[in-house]
Amino acid sequence: QWIYLNGEYVAKHEAKISVFDHGFLYGDGIFEGIRIYNGNIFKCKEHLDRLYDSAKSIMLDIPLSYSEMERALIETIRKNGMNDGYIRLVVSRGDGNLGLDPRRCPKANVVIIVEQLAIYPPEAYVNGLKSVSVSTRRNIPDALNPKIKSLNYLNNILVKIQANLAGAGEAIMLNAQGYVAEGSSDNIFIVKNGVVFTPPCYVGALEGITRGAILEICGKIGLPVRIEPFTLHDVYVADEVFFTGTAAEVIATCEVDGRVIGSGKAGPITTRLLEEFRKIVE
Ligand code: PDD
Repeated sequence: QWIYLNGEYVAKHEAKISVFDHGFLYGDGIFEGIRIYNGNIFKCKEHLDRLYDSAKSIMLDIPLSYSEMERALIETIRKNGMNDGYIRLVVSRGDGNLGLDPRRCPKANVVIIVEQLAIYPPEAYVNGLKSVSVSTRRNIPDALNPKIKSLNYLNNILVKIQANLAGAGEAIMLNAQGYVAEGSSDNIFIVKNGVVFTPPCYVGALEGITRGAILEICGKIGLPVRIEPFTLHDVYVADEVFFTGTAAEVIATCEVDGRVIGSGKAGPITTRLLEEFRKIVE
């Protein structure tokens, strides 16, 4: 397995960064999770646009142009002979000193890892995941804006820890006002009376690319969509609930905080959307 590290390809066990990297020291950096289907990078432009937006927002200067980054992705996939897999693209502020001042980091570090990935077994897409709501709140947009896909993932990790402690497969994060924001590393949708709902990102969600693809599919197949805030009550009484993400794809949740959702398995609209999603990625 070859890792792209600052323009060089190094073997997996050789791929090391300095302990003075500010991504390591402070979580100062950004990343993308991208899928490869049939040798193609799914939604490459959308992912790189989001990466460069995240970089701009935290004033991190990525030392590769958009096209150089795209070429690095393609080359890393080719070098690893990857046809279906997952790309983790990480750009940290770079090596500096112990101070947190980014001006001490002359050059960002760029890492590209490609791996096989199946975060849920096939049956989970039929049976759905058990989910819980957690007390860890989504950081509100004027703190660290959730639209920035930063390496500051402790908020998400604390949510995942609470899901683990509850023996649940996924967790639902609320924002400070108590509105449903998203999952630990995926966006959330509910279906009620044939209408598909998902929170607007300002509630405290990453503008998910899979979320965008699902919204497009809803439009294409004539499913009414409402992008508006909703609460846990709306989740509990929904006919269907599902999460979307590059790693997760489209995964139903069959129970939230002990409330069985709909039939207790992936619902008809969730199943249809997953089928349509699989068609567009092939
Ligand atoms: N997650 N929200 C959060 C907090 C995420 O980390 C992710 C992606 C999403 C889904 O966004 P997208 O559809 O663009 O992947 C939402 C990991 C990194 C992943 O799924 O790769």
